[in-house]
Amino acid sequence: MDGLELASWVDEEHLRRVHKRIKQAVKRTVERLRDCMNGYKWALFLFLTFFPPVRRAGSGRHLADAHDRCHCLYILWVGAFPEKLYPPTQLEYHHLPVAVDTMNSWMANPCCLLWLVAAIGLTGYPGLTFAATDMVNYKHLNCDPSGKLPCPPLSTAPIVDFKPERSANRVRQPVHRLSKSYQEKYKLAVARMKALPASHPLSFTAQAAIHQAYCDGYYRYDNAAAKNQTFDVHFSWIFAPWHRIYIYFYERALRELVGDDTFALPYWSWDAPDGMVIPPLFRDRSNNNSLYDPYRNKANLDKLVDLDYLSNARPEPIDFNGPKDDKYMDAVNCNLCTVYDQQIRSGKGAVNFLGGVPNFTDTDRSSSGTLEQMAHTAMHVWTGRAPNSTADNSTCAVEHDGSYNCLNDMGFLGSSGRDPLFYSHHANVDRLWHIWATTPRGGNGFSNPAWLDASFVFFDGVRHPRRVRIKFRDVLDTRNLGYTYAAVADKPPFLSCNLTSLVPHGGGGGGGGKVAPTFPLILKDGEVVEVPGVALPAAPPGPGQDRVLVIDRIEYDPTEENKFDVAINVPTESAAKVAPQYKEYVGCFAVVPSSVQSGGKMKGKVTLAIDDVLADVAGNSTTVDVVIVPRTPYEIKLYQAPTIQMTNMN
Ligand code: C2O
Repeated sequence: MDGLELASWVDEEHLRRVHKRIKQAVKRTVERLRDCMNGYKWALFLFLTFFPPVRRAGSGRHLADAHDRCHCLYILWVGAFPEKLYPPTQLEYHHLPVAVDTMNSWMANPCCLLWLVAAIGLTGYPGLTFAATDMVNYKHLNCDPSGKLPCPPLSTAPIVDFKPERSANRVRQPVHRLSKSYQEKYKLAVARMKALPASHPLSFTAQAAIHQAYCDGYYRYDNAAAKNQTFDVHFSWIFAPWHRIYIYFYERALRELVGDDTFALPYWSWDAPDGMVIPPLFRDRSNNNSLYDPYRNKANLDKLVDLDYLSNARPEPIDFNGPKDDKYMDAVNCNLCTVYDQQIRSGKGAVNFLGGVPNFTDTDRSSSGTLEQMAHTAMHVWTGRAPNSTADNSTCAVEHDGSYNCLNDMGFLGSSGRDPLFYSHHANVDRLWHIWATTPRGGNGFSNPAWLDASFVFFDGVRHPRRVRIKFRDVLDTRNLGYTYAAVADKPPFLSCNLTSLVPHGGGGGGGGKVAPTFPLILKDGEVVEVPGVALPAAPPGPGQDRVLVIDRIEYDPTEENKFDVAINVPTESAAKVAPQYKEYVGCFAVVPSSVQSGGKMKGKVTLAIDDVLADVAGNSTTVDVVIVPRTPYEIKLYQAPTIQMTNMN
């Protein structure tokens, strides 16, 4: 076939695509070379490739044979560029110091020659070296351009667009109600996932690494507007859909690993009284239980969970199986009300429940929604680090080598994916989003295309790995993902929360001649800050509007368990008692500790719906007194006084 004939059957559209690909390939090659040249790798590779004889250390002879040398070259290459090859073989890095003999003899070896060609090809052809998971809409992400951090495995598997599942035939059930055989299946699935080599993108190690990379600053924006700023899937409206997608692919892998198409990820139902303890299935240490994790707070293992953890309401943990006395029932009610507040009172409206628009900067986080901030955060910290633990958290925070845990998996974002409980915990967070979305107070979330069209690429398929590009709009209805949640009761347990007033109200909150504090100020544990006479918006909220209490520019050390509570119209002397079961409670600011990124401190924000609280405790007044109750000893600086604003619910 000559050139002319060739041209005549290649259709133009195809040609255009090929041209586009070549252009992109050249562009990415140039970028990649530029990155590599900055590092040591190229120098090392060129040195080892072209430098004359290097003798095997101490042996006084050249390397044995061409095959051996070729093997060495391969190991050197993969050692220097592990991300270029997938699936990598089981590398033995201690072979690394062995070097090649002479250029001539290995060049003569066809195997080595092939390696050289393949190596250059892999570097030069960027289409083969996509990142494992990347956000592919308006902000492109790179996992650690410096090459020093443990990014998820890379893959050359094809990327396909997500297609909604045809039927929702999987029902996610509460862990504590699973049948014996379902429990065994869950254990087996995770055991098999743990048995996959770490280089497999659906291994348990790789799954944990994905979470770590997405919350420990390994991904950086790669576009003009936010060049090199760290990316995080927490502390903004990305939280709920990203985690839904993440555990969906985790669930798919488990399903494939046990060969059961109906297997669904069980959820840790900490919102229901009979599920308010770490499920025994996760605590059982026998037979190398794959769901067991040693890095949990031993003091809390069999205790009644505290969904308002760190707020001092409960000085001693309560035995889950202990007597159901008043203390126990009060604690259960506090838990129910925490969920009630996050779902209904403070979580009314998408921005309050799901979080704010991300800031795209290193140090300014957006606002977490109540879905993330309240019970979710409490359960991470409650399961993870022991209070007053002597583990050096600052070391946990700065190490990016993937090896730390500080005896604490769940209590630190970077390590939390290493506890199998994380995935069942997040299944419950996902379920609470699902419940919110299907009630009148909730809804579909945001109508902003920046949210709906945000997309990420995830690994799929244990036997035949491929990558799937999935958009947030694809996952707003769980049926598109083929699962639903078991209806275990006629109504969610949190609707039984018994809310009472902490103090009597006689239309107070007018400031009453109290002195307003000056901002900025630093919160001190045990010292309540009262901000008197905060003005309410003049007009009552119209349709689709909501009044929200906003505290912006909250500066804190992200490596610590930061928390403060917010309430209105509570006198200072009663403020320490503020808790979710009281009508005066507005919500909290709380974070799961995570890494220091650029420069140490972070700034965050809270926005909390306040209409219901106002209706209960503010009468017809035009101002309210806001109390801020610090709950942990770590330094939090508030730059601005709280304000009450009118907002559109979405
Ligand atoms: Cu990505 Cu519960 O955290």
